[in-house]
Amino acid sequence: MTVLRLGEVTSTQDVAKDLAADGADHGTVVRAERQTAGRGRLGRRWASAPGDGLLFSIVLRPGGLLRDAPLLTLGAAAGIAEALDVQVKWPNDLVVDAGPDVPPLKIGGILGELEAEPGGAVRHVVLGVGLNVLQQVFPAELPFATSLWIQDGGVDREEVFERAVAAILEWHAHPGRLNLWRSRAHTLGRKVEITTGNGPGRSIIAGLATGLADDGALIVDGRPVYVGEVGSCPA
Ligand code: BTN
Repeated sequence: MTVLRLGEVTSTQDVAKDLAADGADHGTVVRAERQTAGRGRLGRRWASAPGDGLLFSIVLRPGGLLRDAPLLTLGAAAGIAEALDVQVKWPNDLVVDAGPDVPPLKIGGILGELEAEPGGAVRHVVLGVGLNVLQQVFPAELPFATSLWIQDGGVDREEVFERAVAAILEWHAHPGRLNLWRSRAHTLGRKVEITTGNGPGRSIIAGLATGLADDGALIVDGRPVYVGEVGSCPA
C-alpha cells in the first residue's frame, strides 16, 4: 500500500483523484496536514487545524456499478466506526451519542467521489476521510463537534490513521458491511428530520428511521430516502 504524505494541499480528494485518473493502485492513500479547500458532503467545507485531525483520501478500485457506490461509503463508515468504537449517522457521518433529545456529536465524516464509464461501470472511487483526533476545543460555530481526544484522551494519531485505513480496506466491499452499519447505527429507531435538495427544491422529510435498505436507503416511515442530511435526531 502506498501512502503519500503531504504538507498543504487544496484537498486530498483533488490529489487522489488525479492519481487515480493516472492509474494509481487500489489502496493508494493521500494524507495531508492541511487543506486550503477541504470539502464535505453536500457542498460543505471541511476545516481542521494542522496537527489535530486526520485528513486523507484513499483510491479504491472495487469494480461494480454506479448504483452500488453508496454501499462503499456506508461500508467504509461502518468499518471505521467499528475500529474506533463510535457510531454512524446516516449515511456516513461518524458520531458519538450525546444523550437523549440532543443531536449526536460528529467525530468524522466520509466523502465519496467516483468516476464511471458511460455504461455505469465504476472506474475508481476516491473516499475522503476527515477525523477529529486531537482537537481539545472547537469553535462556537461547531457546537456538535467532538474529537477522539475529548472522548477518550490519550489517542495516538498514527495508530488511528492505521486502524482507519485498515478498516476501510477490510469493509468497503465486505458482504457483511450493511449489517455492521446497522449494528453501529445511531440513526435507526429515532425520529429524524432529513433535509433534501436546496433552494426552491429543498424539502424536509420527518419521521421514524426504522431501517437501512439493502441499496443503502434510509427507511423513514416506510419510505426510502436516498440523499439528504439528517439534521436532528431527538430520542
Ligand atoms: C462530510 O462529513 O461531509 C465528509 C467530510 C470529508 C472530509 C475529508 S478531509 C479529507 C478529504 N479531503 C476533502 O476535501 N474532504 C475529505
